[in-house]
Amino acid sequence: MNFVAALNEATSKNLFVLEEQIRQAIAEDPFIYEACAPLFKGGKRLRPMLFLLCANSQKNFPSEKTMPLAVALELIHTASLVHDDIIDTSKKRRGVETANSKYGAQIAVLIGDYLFAKAFQLVAENNYGVAVTTILSKLVKNLCVGEIMQDRSLYEIPTLAEYYTRINLKTAIFLSSCCQLGAIVAQMDKREVENLTAYGTGLGLAFQIIDDLLDFFGDEKITGKPNGGDLKSGVITLPVIRALEISEESPALKKLVTSGAVTNSDIDTAIKIIRNTDAVDYCRTRAEAHIESARVNLPITLKTSVALALDQIADFIVDRTR
Ligand code: FPP
Ligand code: MG
Repeated sequence: MNFVAALNEATSKNLFVLEEQIRQAIAEDPFIYEACAPLFKGGKRLRPMLFLLCANSQKNFPSEKTMPLAVALELIHTASLVHDDIIDTSKKRRGVETANSKYGAQIAVLIGDYLFAKAFQLVAENNYGVAVTTILSKLVKNLCVGEIMQDRSLYEIPTLAEYYTRINLKTAIFLSSCCQLGAIVAQMDKREVENLTAYGTGLGLAFQIIDDLLDFFGDEKITGKPNGGDLKSGVITLPVIRALEISEESPALKKLVTSGAVTNSDIDTAIKIIRNTDAVDYCRTRAEAHIESARVNLPITLKTSVALALDQIADFIVDRTR
């Protein structure tokens, strides 16, 4: 059984309901629907899946209780991607043209704001309470701080600790919050909430490290975005940090990544230098270690089908190609 099937079984076919409710959430305004429907055709739904699995990990809740928050998490994530693509002047996302490329940055800012506001409307209307809204607000603040940190240090080489701070703020806190929210909605005990949150953190750190590898070495047709995008926009990630540490060609790589203007041929050169080191294995080993720490945090009290799905998500994160 793959994890989508395991998830459907674990959560009473909630994924079908999720897709329909995402559609309804963006269908209220015709322009928003036209602009956003193609974007929502892609995406892995990792955040709402994690939330739904954790929420239904001991007993199944009716979908009315969990679905608005699951949809809100996907809307917040997509809003952040719409804004991220403006910041990065990206042209492609999830295999389709970005909102900024199609409509210009001004309109794209507002599309992101709309999705963000719609998410909080769903949360407010469904009375999730202060604990839930506080976690959501903090996760968005952390996303912003992570993004600001990144954009204030473009073309600068981060230390390993700085890299980890950034990926924690940008990605791991979001995934851990999805798990935490699920556990809170399900009224699990404090220890189980902490363990599921820690599972999400391990998953999130691994997810971003693999994302950073895919940015260089992924199949563009599968990832839906061009290789070397991070470097081109001045974001220096783990494969480069590692290669700079051990490559004989480190001075050339350093000059290239800090130059302030990275060309396509620079990207090819950087990829060759990185490939001549152990950087790919090094990144994968680190990602696998975070996945293992995620796995050991899975509480033993979970339903078998949910434990299986969360375990398969952990495998998927390191094996994924998109
Ligand atoms: C993608 O990362 C982007 C993020 C993880 C978060 C971006 C956050 C903001 C722009 C803050 C605004 C938030 C809201 C909710 C309005 P990436 O650039 O590493 O990955 P990519 O290669 O997929 O672009
Ligand atoms: Mg980006």
